[in-house]
Amino acid sequence: MTQLESKSLRPSHSPAMEKAIPITTCRIGSWEILISRRPLSSEGLASRYDSVSGSWERTARRFQLETAYQEPLLTSQVTTVLTQAGPQARVLDCGVGNGSLSIALDSILTDPVDYHGIDISAEMLVQANSTMQHAGLRAHLRQADVLSLPYDDQSFDVVMAAHVLEHLPDPQRALKEMNRVLKPGGMVFVCVTRHSLFGAFIQLRWRTWAITEQQGIAWLHDCLLADVGYQSVHFGSCAGVASTAFWARRPK
Ligand SMILES: C[S@@+](CC[C@H](N)C(=O)[O-])C[C@H]1O[C@@H](n2cnc3c(N)ncnc32)[C@H](O)[C@@H]1O
Repeated sequence: MTQLESKSLRPSHSPAMEKAIPITTCRIGSWEILISRRPLSSEGLASRYDSVSGSWERTARRFQLETAYQEPLLTSQVTTVLTQAGPQARVLDCGVGNGSLSIALDSILTDPVDYHGIDISAEMLVQANSTMQHAGLRAHLRQADVLSLPYDDQSFDVVMAAHVLEHLPDPQRALKEMNRVLKPGGMVFVCVTRHSLFGAFIQLRWRTWAITEQQGIAWLHDCLLADVGYQSVHFGSCAGVASTAFWARRPK
């Protein structure tokens, strides 16, 4: 049974605060030229995703997202964390989209857990409500910004986000907020677009970051997380290895 809660959102950062996303640097003699791009604002992202929500299920199927997420989820041993947490285990999926990451996680678990999902786009939440209900997940959905999660400190065993952080002017701020709601001993799992031909296409179309393995690992260490791991994510279709999954535990 899915529960869906919706409200109008105030942007959590103003355009003046937005940092530009560095795209490339070139050096000519003593000159260094940095080409960067302003990210979409929270409202811009919400309305872009509202407008593609109807076709997102097709996109998820084309890139076989549910299958793609299974392998790194298994490697991260997120299943052990949830088994240890027992029947009260709680998972938060930030930028839930149509629920692909939660559905992938559920397919590798033996016991049911409670899924909480937030998204900035009301229309994506409508999609998530339908696909997660169809897949039989116990899901609770809310419209919210990952930069300001409407949950108490240390309230989830697993906090995850797939292809969300690269949209933000300051991905580290989102990671810190995800870490805030993570229980000691819990796991954070994120998946982000990396540098590749496909990544460049996404970057051009969606004004996102392409994140290196070193950057992702450094961000997790900055949050004082331990047992950091990462793995390439293989998509279906022509996208190939277009993303990296990162995970880490919050020390007890
Ligand atoms: C590329 S989609 C990924 C959806 C899903 N996680 C998946 O892997 O299929 C990015 C999602 O993040 C949401 N999103 C973008 N910025 C967000 C923010 N600041 N807070 C919450 N959700 C956000 C979008 O609305 C969209 O549903």
